[in-house]
Amino acid sequence: MIKPVYLDYNATTPNDPEVLAAMLPFFEEIFGNPSSSHWYGIPAKRAVENARKQAASLLGCDPQEVIFTSGGTESDNHAIHGIVRAYRDRGSHIITTEIEHYAVLEVCRFLEKDGISVTYLPVDESGCVSVSDVEKAIRPETILITVMHANNEVGTVQPVEDIARLAKSRDIIVHSDAAQSVGKIPVNVRQMGCDLLSLAGHKLYAPKGIGALFIRKGLSLGKFMHGAGQERGCRAGTENVQQIAGLGKACEIAERDLEKNMRHTQEMRDMLEAGLSKEIPNIRINGHPEKRLPNTLSVSFPRLEANRILEKAGLDIAASAGAACHADTVRISHVLKAMNVPFDYAKGTLRLSVGKMTTRKEIGTAIRVISDAVKNLS
Ligand SMILES: Cc1ncc(COP(=O)(O)O)c(C=O)c1O
Repeated sequence: MIKPVYLDYNATTPNDPEVLAAMLPFFEEIFGNPSSSHWYGIPAKRAVENARKQAASLLGCDPQEVIFTSGGTESDNHAIHGIVRAYRDRGSHIITTEIEHYAVLEVCRFLEKDGISVTYLPVDESGCVSVSDVEKAIRPETILITVMHANNEVGTVQPVEDIARLAKSRDIIVHSDAAQSVGKIPVNVRQMGCDLLSLAGHKLYAPKGIGALFIRKGLSLGKFMHGAGQERGCRAGTENVQQIAGLGKACEIAERDLEKNMRHTQEMRDMLEAGLSKEIPNIRINGHPEKRLPNTLSVSFPRLEANRILEKAGLDIAASAGAACHADTVRISHVLKAMNVPFDYAKGTLRLSVGKMTTRKEIGTAIRVISDAVKNLS
């Protein structure tokens, strides 16, 4: 069977074979509970602590500053709810952006119902938030600024470092959702200056359902899961040892191969962008021209519907749409809306994302298939 070319690495990645190999012993002989102090539990505990070191090394922090979660959504929830619970007596205002993932936006909306005030900052046409807008939004009661590191749809990388510097001078905590950037570009929490940072395993060739949260030493968060004392009392529940071992390995590989993977994905993405631009006039590339994830290409085809393009190309490529079209209604993604992408372009937007397994041959096929579909529908 010939499989469609996979161009949806921002949705999820395949498991790296090295990651799978690192997980297998924990489905077999090493099945103990990490909290058990006997022969079976000790190697499980060692695996969890080794993974913590691997994740910390990738993020540039101490292992004690990493806790394991069930993924990006839980990390975001834990960070935001945790700060609100711990600092509510200091203030009740959060600053975020209009282009965050729903794992942040929906938490903020939920908290608004609970009396928290939230400022959703706009972005410019390249999908970038302005540091001076952040500064203007700060109030005496601001307790948290949560700004994603890189956007999942268009790949724009946000000025988190500058935002964190500003926040530090005002004694405000900074969280960054780095689910899309970890493993794709350098992410060093000390350089970024953030207090909390979320990552999701399935975006960096580890399995789904595992993630991590960096919590800067000295910062105390409200408990997220109540129960026994795992994860230094922050997140109760027997550890998902096999997934944690997989995430640890994925972090080790991401650190080891970062330069190589950045070069490769950028080469593949640029080839795709150049090929489509050559074949089809008037396309629009969304996102910042330079400050953008090297693997991400959000491309708009004027006056077409993204779903129709994907239907035509569906047997040959697997990608996402930036707009959902049903009957006579079109729902543009909140990110493209915030970026003011003209409607005629926004509704024909494909979210293409390549990965370390993407080949030149696949890119050649994708260019041919997408251009044929677009020409056919135009
Ligand atoms: C930027 C961003 N944050 C959070 C998430 C949620 O992560 P998870 O699927 O691991 O819950 C995603 C996943 O698409 C994402 O792209």
